[in-house]
Amino acid sequence: MPHYLEWSRAYSHRLNAADGAPLQARAAEMGARLERELAQGILPFLSMPYRATLEKDLPPILEKVRTRKHMLVLGIGGSALGARAIQRAFAPGQDRPGHDGPCLWIADNVCAEEFEALLAGLDAADTSVVCISKSGGTIETLAQYFLVRQWLQADLGEGWREHMVVVTDAVSGYLRQEATSHGLASLEVPDHLGGRYSVLSAVGLLPAGFLGVDWRALLDGAAEVARPLLEAPRSLGSHPSYALACWARALELQEYSELILFCYVPQWAALGPWFAQLWAESLGKDGLGILPVAATGVTDQHSVNQMFLSGPRNKGCIFLTSRGQAEGRVFGQDLPQEWAWLRGKPLGSLLEAEALGTRMALCMNEVPLVHMDMDGTGPNAAGAFMLLLEAATLFTGWLMGVNPLDQPAVELGKRLANARLGAPGYVTEHADLDNFMAV
Ligand code: PA5
Repeated sequence: MPHYLEWSRAYSHRLNAADGAPLQARAAEMGARLERELAQGILPFLSMPYRATLEKDLPPILEKVRTRKHMLVLGIGGSALGARAIQRAFAPGQDRPGHDGPCLWIADNVCAEEFEALLAGLDAADTSVVCISKSGGTIETLAQYFLVRQWLQADLGEGWREHMVVVTDAVSGYLRQEATSHGLASLEVPDHLGGRYSVLSAVGLLPAGFLGVDWRALLDGAAEVARPLLEAPRSLGSHPSYALACWARALELQEYSELILFCYVPQWAALGPWFAQLWAESLGKDGLGILPVAATGVTDQHSVNQMFLSGPRNKGCIFLTSRGQAEGRVFGQDLPQEWAWLRGKPLGSLLEAEALGTRMALCMNEVPLVHMDMDGTGPNAAGAFMLLLEAATLFTGWLMGVNPLDQPAVELGKRLANARLGAPGYVTEHADLDNFMAV
């Protein structure tokens, strides 16, 4: 749980705690809905009923993939961003000199040049490929799957099957058929668990476990945040996720249009894009929603922070810090006189001071801000933070009156692309394409 999460009151802006009161007053209604939807089993990201299956199915697959140096993940959106966030937070060593541990590669695009460079650097015999798709039919992921399968076959022949793991729906979708017909190792994405809410399932935890990250600690941290919601759904009014949702919805009602996640736990920076996808795909609906913006302290103090501080007054900020940051190396006593004030201080004190300075500067510049100060920087704290944001996103959607679990608008572009490639059906899309191209 974060140590505190509060509305910034010290400086003026056009958002007041009173703006949240009518939303807070809806807690009983929202709690009843939570209770109902939990009973219907449609919120598995909160209740994690799949944990027992994972405890049984994940270890043997981990044992196998950990015999190889490389893991290549094929996936996109919610099937890729969580794994990347975990990798950057807890196993960043791969980019560092002298690294000799496991290497995780996440292919979440269809850039021919990048894909070629990636495969050229890998040895098929020493690589496990993990194809992740809840639906089992996402074109970008399947395109990569077909090409990587050819690549494996070229080196390993029939042995390619031993190098492929599929993470997908238990029964439906093309990838499930592939797993069954080729006898591929597989893990399930549970029913009702949409991509952007799936990081704490096999989707994020298989890559995490491969990297040696304590995946059970991620789940434990999340479970701690979820517990009060599960045990007393009708008391959700006192939960930090609901408080965050009320604040974010009040922000929108006061016509703020951007929400910054300013991450001062730098090793967690890749949680920014993960959060941006979670928030945007869940809440950008019916002409509503606040655009998420991911920023990292201190790096972005020398970049977009100027716009945050002095650009349009349309931004709110979730300001993330942790009490568990390492202090690090200490500045020597021989620093020159003009830098003497740094002598004896650890590097961590600079991060802490800059976080305080920037947080205050945002408040003083009329940016409404919620400060979340986490207990640590390890997998337990990260699991807690991710669950907290997932739940806050869900509740914000409910307060907005949109469905935070679907993403209908992104389907159109996919249908048009399929039509462009000659996929059967898509009659309307073919006509739309002809009209568009004729202009
Ligand atoms: O969050 C979501 O639901 C999406 O971003 C999906 O994760 C993304 O579209 C990939 O879908 P799938 O896992 O079905 O391949």
